Amino acid sequence: MSLCCRLRRDPKILLSSGLVAHHSSHYGCAMLDHLKANNRAWVERMVSADPDFFRRLEGQQTPEYLWIGCSDSRVPANEIVGLDPGELFVHRNVANLAPPQDANYLSVLQFAVEVLKVKHIMVVGHYGCSGVSAAVDGKRRGLVDHWLHPIREVYHEHHDSLDAIPDWSARLDSLCELNVIRQVRNVASDVFVQEAWARGQDLRVHGWVYSLANGLVTDLDVTIERLGYQRKLAPDPQVKTEVNRLD
Ligand code: CO
Repeated sequence: MSLCCRLRRDPKILLSSGLVAHHSSHYGCAMLDHLKANNRAWVERMVSADPDFFRRLEGQQTPEYLWIGCSDSRVPANEIVGLDPGELFVHRNVANLAPPQDANYLSVLQFAVEVLKVKHIMVVGHYGCSGVSAAVDGKRRGLVDHWLHPIREVYHEHHDSLDAIPDWSARLDSLCELNVIRQVRNVASDVFVQEAWARGQDLRVHGWVYSLANGLVTDLDVTIERLGYQRKLAPDPQVKTEVNRLD
């Protein structure tokens, strides 16, 4: 029995479980009715177009693509590229980052590469990204400042060319592109991806930017499809010397 049905029978469960701080007279079940109605209508549309749609989806998930994009509500991954449920594996976070220490992103990446065996990974940024802007506008916001730290590093790396762009929003758009390129490098140099290429797996990592203004995706043409980064991952004698010196 679903939690919602159990709550209808015995609303005290909600209060004793500590699941919510506040409760409505309907104990949550009658809230967001418009969304539930939308859901029913969507199911009807899908089933009338293809009666076996959900039965087929339930049976298997074989997407060829992993989308790593921004959480921004204006960038709905499936719609933008016209893909149905089951066709796109999606990971989204603030400012479409692929940080090598983030267990959430790494779990998605490993599952996509090793289990689903996706053929393409798209890192998709978008112009006008609030996350990218927040990274460099000098204001303090709390935890998110730490999350956005890699973007400040990208700005620092490219500050000569970025500072030469007089228009602030154009400068941020350029930073959005540079951020995507950096995240493509992160994905392509990840051990899961490197090992997939070493096994001969067919896999490409792409960098795209989406325009909120016109809905179009631009391919930044930075696709990586081979073990190009392995050399850089191999032990570097100079680095070793530095490490030894530290010892
Ligand atoms: Co964004």
